[in-house]
Amino acid sequence: MASTVLLGITGCIAAYKAAEIVRGLQKAGLRVKVVMTEHATHFVDPLTFRSLTHEPVAVGLFDDPSDPIHHISLADEADAFLIAPCTANVIAKIAHGIADDLLTTTALACTAPLLIAPAMNVHMYEASATQDNLSLLKSRGVAFVDADEGYLACGYTGKGRLAAVDEIIAATLTLLGESRSGNNDNDACSLRDLTGLSVLVTAGPTQEPIDAVRFLSNYSSGKMGYALAGAACARGASVTLVSGPVSLTPPSGVDVVPVQTGMEMLEACQKFFSRADIAVFSAAVADARPAVAFERKLKKGVAEDAAALSEIKLVPNPDILATLAANKDPRQTVVGFAAETDDLLDNARRKLQCKHADVIVANLVGAGKAFGKDTNQATLVSATEEHILPDMSKVQLAHRIFDFVLQIRN
Ligand code: PMT
Repeated sequence: MASTVLLGITGCIAAYKAAEIVRGLQKAGLRVKVVMTEHATHFVDPLTFRSLTHEPVAVGLFDDPSDPIHHISLADEADAFLIAPCTANVIAKIAHGIADDLLTTTALACTAPLLIAPAMNVHMYEASATQDNLSLLKSRGVAFVDADEGYLACGYTGKGRLAAVDEIIAATLTLLGESRSGNNDNDACSLRDLTGLSVLVTAGPTQEPIDAVRFLSNYSSGKMGYALAGAACARGASVTLVSGPVSLTPPSGVDVVPVQTGMEMLEACQKFFSRADIAVFSAAVADARPAVAFERKLKKGVAEDAAALSEIKLVPNPDILATLAANKDPRQTVVGFAAETDDLLDNARRKLQCKHADVIVANLVGAGKAFGKDTNQATLVSATEEHILPDMSKVQLAHRIFDFVLQIRN
């Protein structure tokens, strides 16, 4: 049975965005019930949400004569309670246990995980009282999708704008995943929106042999690629994972093709690319390989071997992504990555074009970033859109990438 998200809507102009949130949650396969404060109804009529959810919209504590303890039944039905937008006033009330209307009474009675997306004027956001209340709630384990900075409806510019709808939806899905599995993994994924699609993922580093015991490689652990393969599989895709040498257990249900070198990765991808609807190239392929790979071990003590070791000649490896994407057909969506230490977005935009990709996932690397980590901060770049994402687990990022791919394909 679909999980139920109780969506609380409070009185601010961003209340109109709650309609998009409802649609997004429904598209993710969730049941949505709405509870509004009386103030919120001045911004959007409850009828909007009743029409979208096909469920009664709860506003007043005593509105439903058939259910005298409405706040308890609403609280009990919720698998997650999302309040978006949430005003400074409601944040303050929840922080201090004030329950003087249906929404705040339900919040007090609700044992499901709570996610708050604040929205308010910048000065209200920065006020010490609000900041203290936010800290208090965070310390109690309440999850937040923090407000964005930008131009606010009140005419000010600063922090206080409701976070992007897709960010709020992703955070809700994460919260539901965490509350059901305790582990934020794909087991709890209620989406099957990749059913019927074939997904090709490349992952990990490549190793380019120098001799029998040495190779050129990089720090890729494969975590990003394995997260992508696992997420695609959890969402119903049939997945082929072409993986360089890593020490990870492949996600179950995924077909793994192990490779060592960039040339082997190209060859494996060539076999599967034509049948892929979506191809995601997250592998850190070595850009070059030794021109000669000695079958024996080169010995430092042997002059000829020492010379060969100190002057390793390199030849470029083929660019797997660019080679395959150059011949993609319109049915296919190709996602590449850009791993950069500087000029991230400029390089990502350039790679989008020159590698014929539909999406580039731009991430900063070096100085302890991305490689080998469980989390990553990325920007999704397409020809028309750029989405800066917050730092998140690689599993969450994988889901955000597939959300974006589906948005482009639709
Ligand atoms: O594996 P993890 O430890 O989890 O780390 C994740 C990651 C940092 C490896 C990942 O997030 C990432 O950034 N992957 C791309 C690494 C990379 O090689 O980036 P690039 O900017 O050099 O290459 C751009 C794109 O071309 C990539 O999609 C890459 O897969 C592809 N490429 C590059 C060279 C090549 N010869 N063939 C390719 O297909």
